[in-house]
Amino acid sequence: MPAAVSFQSVSKTYATPKGPFQALHQVSLDIEEGEFFGLLGPNGAGKTTLISILAGLARASQGRVLVRGHDVQADYANARHQLGVVPQELVFDPFFNVRETLRIQSGYFGVKNNDAWIDELLESLGLSDKATANMRQLSGGMKRRVLVAQALVHKPPIIVLDEPTAGVDVELRQTLWHFIAKLNKQGHTVLLTTHYLEEAEALCQRIAMLKNGRMVALSRTSDLLKTATSNVLLFKTDVALPPAMAAQARVTGRIVQLPASDAAEIEHHLAALRQAGITPEDVEIRRADLEDVFLQVMGANTPPAEAA
Ligand SMILES: Nc1ncnc2c1ncn2[C@@H]1O[C@H](COP(=O)(O)OP(=O)(O)OP(=O)(O)O)[C@@H](O)[C@H]1O
Ligand SMILES: [Mg+2]
Repeated sequence: MPAAVSFQSVSKTYATPKGPFQALHQVSLDIEEGEFFGLLGPNGAGKTTLISILAGLARASQGRVLVRGHDVQADYANARHQLGVVPQELVFDPFFNVRETLRIQSGYFGVKNNDAWIDELLESLGLSDKATANMRQLSGGMKRRVLVAQALVHKPPIIVLDEPTAGVDVELRQTLWHFIAKLNKQGHTVLLTTHYLEEAEALCQRIAMLKNGRMVALSRTSDLLKTATSNVLLFKTDVALPPAMAAQARVTGRIVQLPASDAAEIEHHLAALRQAGITPEDVEIRRADLEDVFLQVMGANTPPAEAA
């Protein structure tokens, strides 16, 4: 059985006014049938570019992409039919209402009499009371829900979500994940990009990380978590940290987080604080999470010029 999605040495160079810009460098990656797969990376890493090539919206400059064995360029219709893509950008025809939008999309995929499934989608995505509302009458988060419904209207075996929860409230995020996880259990393959790393950690079996168009990590989520320093020392302070400590700390406002693999390292940090005359407040120790791994991976792959 072919992979659900196979990216084979995919490169992409955009023509820009400043000259060619290479957004992807030979990305190779197979996503297996039934997987819940996460594609992570900072802004501009190339995630949307990779998804656009998969969806046939952009062409790879080199390499190729297969969807269940169908080449996305040579065999576009068959490849596209397998995919439900939730794009990052909100684009709609403002003249149609929600149900019409979903019916039109069904027609586009040749699915007739789809109202039972459309109702289920509306219900699952909290849109039932907006079925007859015009697209332009919806809030941003509601529009994103319609995008999700639109992508799922033909029950695609492979669901591709490009930041589906950006701008979506907490309650709907949970509803959405519950629904997508249910579809995944039923056998649908899921490819997800998100900047909410706790979502990726909770949902994805495997994760790839992109940085500057290059793949810098590809692993099972559980294995990625094992590569992190196992603990993080967390405290609050208003005082500037000693430089050696600041270099390894993650500081958010007055919250400081320091990687610490064991008790000795925690003691070492606390001693350094004492020596610097800093009394840390609200001291906590927590297990490292995917965000810690992500920052480590991205930090480790900083080119020397950028680091300096
Ligand atoms: N049409 C285009 N023309 C020129 N450059 C582009 C084009 N689309 C994207 N890029 C560039 O390619 C790089 C990757 O962009 P892409 O949208 O794939 O990033 P991303 O990982 O999806 O980021 P984000 O997390 O912000 O969505 C960026 O530097 C971007 O400026
Ligand atoms: Mg993007």
